Amino acid sequence: MLYIGVDLGTSAVKLLLMDEKGKIKNIVSKEYPLSFPQNGWSEQNPKDWYEQTVLGIKELIKHFDKSQVAGISFGGQMHGLVVLDENDEVIRPAILWNDSRTTKETDYLNNVIGKDKLSQYTANIAFAGFTAPKILWMKENESENFKKISKIMLPKDYIAYKLSNVFCTDVSDASGMLLYDVKNRCWSKEMINICGINENQLANVFESYEVVGTLTKEVAKELNLDAKVKVIAGAGDNAAAAIGTATVGEGKCNISLGTSGTVFIASEKFGVDENNALHSFAHSDGNYHLMGCMLSAASCNKWWIEEILKTNDYNNELNNIEKLGNNKVFFLPYLMGERSPYNDPSARGCFIGMSMDTTREEMSQAVLEGVAFALRDSFEIAKSLGIKIESTKICGGGAKSPIWVKMIANILNIKVERIESEEGPALGGAILAAVGCKEFASVEEAANKIVKVIETIDPDPVLVEKYEIAYRKFAKIYPTVKKLYTELM
Ligand code: XUL
Repeated sequence: MLYIGVDLGTSAVKLLLMDEKGKIKNIVSKEYPLSFPQNGWSEQNPKDWYEQTVLGIKELIKHFDKSQVAGISFGGQMHGLVVLDENDEVIRPAILWNDSRTTKETDYLNNVIGKDKLSQYTANIAFAGFTAPKILWMKENESENFKKISKIMLPKDYIAYKLSNVFCTDVSDASGMLLYDVKNRCWSKEMINICGINENQLANVFESYEVVGTLTKEVAKELNLDAKVKVIAGAGDNAAAAIGTATVGEGKCNISLGTSGTVFIASEKFGVDENNALHSFAHSDGNYHLMGCMLSAASCNKWWIEEILKTNDYNNELNNIEKLGNNKVFFLPYLMGERSPYNDPSARGCFIGMSMDTTREEMSQAVLEGVAFALRDSFEIAKSLGIKIESTKICGGGAKSPIWVKMIANILNIKVERIESEEGPALGGAILAAVGCKEFASVEEAANKIVKVIETIDPDPVLVEKYEIAYRKFAKIYPTVKKLYTELM
């Protein structure tokens, strides 16, 4: 049998075809535009997602026996607001996870409704990129559009809806809306009232590995697939990546170095940290997880190399980095604002420490180190909760860079395990599809059978010590420049 995993990312949709043993048979990627209509805004057109997904699926399965395709599932960029009217037409472009227009609404939720109440209702506080503040923004700034809303969806759920005609979401992605009671795995009536919406506008929530329906006849014909192909709920991209890296079981950790950067810690029990600095979400294996998310990770490197250094030769730029642990230059990676742990949408990027002898390599190195230091900020919160993390998996585009992975191992002082496939969310999606089709008894069994570690990078005590000193310096920069950000806006 064959299973399709769809990773609906921010720059592209990745499609992965896997057989029943977990062997990857094909991978296809299709890009779509991302627009920044105003400073801090980030939008995409859901129709682009769907068109490219359909093209991608056709290409993915072109040379395979289509009668073998049994299921399809997803990992998708989280938190995005997709709104449909009563005719199922998209009302406005989707407002994405890294959009920071909702400062006012986030402040209202955190300070007027209050963090305690939000945490009690949803296990989380408001962050600018979460879905509920975006709904409030629409209500205030686009009231005509707001009145037209019939369905509120997350990005990957729009694709599931188009494929199956089932209005669905899953527990992990629903967790990032600030409308979902994570602990009790149900919509929060209080949050629904606060946002001025009703429960009919929200989808039915499934566990990530549950079947929601099958392809519609029209879609099956278009894709040249059987209409019995099952559609499985899927997960937010980080929870899907966790499956694609076998991050299941108490204290298991995965770092994703994609457009965003995340530290994902699986847990068998529900928990929140005192300041809600980490997100407390449902996991796609039926349990829970904690997660720190930075809004710009591999995207900082892309910005630096492509937009500033004006090259595409990543190897040439990064292969010359030699002196780990001795860099005098520091970089704050907050190009789209800061999420975890500071929750500051007005934060921005910043280089500090250059002198006349600073080299291009040191600046490139500072960008990679800045991202790793910022991941450590979230890691520190997890440690302060008493969670013991001895090793982590790593996935996403940045995981392909050996120097970056080495920095992470030493800056976080943990073993980093590289796995056979870095396609975390797409592989996770395919695994969830296989579990939904009863190929495996559980998500845990499937992930542990399929995912293989190919290399372990151990921290080096000399570098760990140097980076410890550097991290302490890094940790002072944001609190020092913080007050300038609003003035600079
Ligand atoms: C997680 C988050 C990002 C997006 C990226 O909270 O906002 O990781 O899911 O696609």
